[in-house]
Amino acid sequence: MKNTMIAGLAGALLLSTAGFAYAAQGTTVVPAGQQSPQTEVAQAETPAEAPAAADEAPAASEAPAASTGTSGQESAPAGDDASSAAAAPAEGGGASVAGVSNPEPDANPSADTKAESNTVATIKPADAAEDPGLALDSAEKPVYAFAEDGTADWYTWRGYKKYGANCLQCHGPDGMGSSFAPNLLESLQTIDYYEFAGIIVGGQQNQWGSNNSIMPAWGEDPNVMCSLNAIYTYLRGRSDGVVDRGEPKRPGKSDLAQAAQQKEYDCLGF
Ligand code: HEC
Repeated sequence: MKNTMIAGLAGALLLSTAGFAYAAQGTTVVPAGQQSPQTEVAQAETPAEAPAAADEAPAASEAPAASTGTSGQESAPAGDDASSAAAAPAEGGGASVAGVSNPEPDANPSADTKAESNTVATIKPADAAEDPGLALDSAEKPVYAFAEDGTADWYTWRGYKKYGANCLQCHGPDGMGSSFAPNLLESLQTIDYYEFAGIIVGGQQNQWGSNNSIMPAWGEDPNVMCSLNAIYTYLRGRSDGVVDRGEPKRPGKSDLAQAAQQKEYDCLGF
């Protein structure tokens, strides 16, 4: 009886916090036609040889910044990816943000990547004032954005750091689980961004045999809440098989990376 009460309580909490997370995240607007560097994704400089494809893209200069420039993929798509490749607007699955060249995700990627039919190849920038330099997929969910040379975007790199500081002690190195807590690479195959945010904000509790398994609630902890998108972006990359174990290649200095870091400091009250 006690268990049902706890489960009910946790459910109610989860619902309300998921609603909160949605409200906080659902307002992202990408200004159409904006050309300023503010709409680009925070990452290292594009290598000089990369953007040849930008010239081939018809009317690239009139298109919104979110869809200018394509770049070839590094890895050839596997044969069974033919359908998703065909669905992608840019032939070859090139990213739609200038200079972004995301690797092909695993065959069994995160729930968000599955839902978007691997449109992580057609990402766009989040609102520069809200989340400077953050990449979104076509469902407006945060996603990694790699440069041609394999450099991560700022959020993916930062998420690795914040994961290490706040989650690793239970969920193990690189998100791969421990005897205390589940493998988050597998969890993300069924949990989407909003469910993830709800669990982080409100926590989660389950009874496994005689063991009470508790995921703490982080809704009041700025160290986690100010970096929720970064942690998700990193774990999504891990779950998609495009972020390796260990530290992702750190992005170089850029205005957007700096703005993103400043935004985090502001949120933390530094
Ligand atoms: C004190 C240990 C601990 C810490 C620290 C911790 N977690 Fe957890 N987490 C757990 C446990 C235990 C569970 C499993 C709860 C359950 O059985 O429902 C869990 C569950 C989860 C789940 C749901 C997984 C699923 O498949 O249901 C997510 C997502 C998650 N944690 C993310 C995180 C993130 C991100 C962080 C860092 C911000 C973090 N956790 C920090 C212990 C922890």
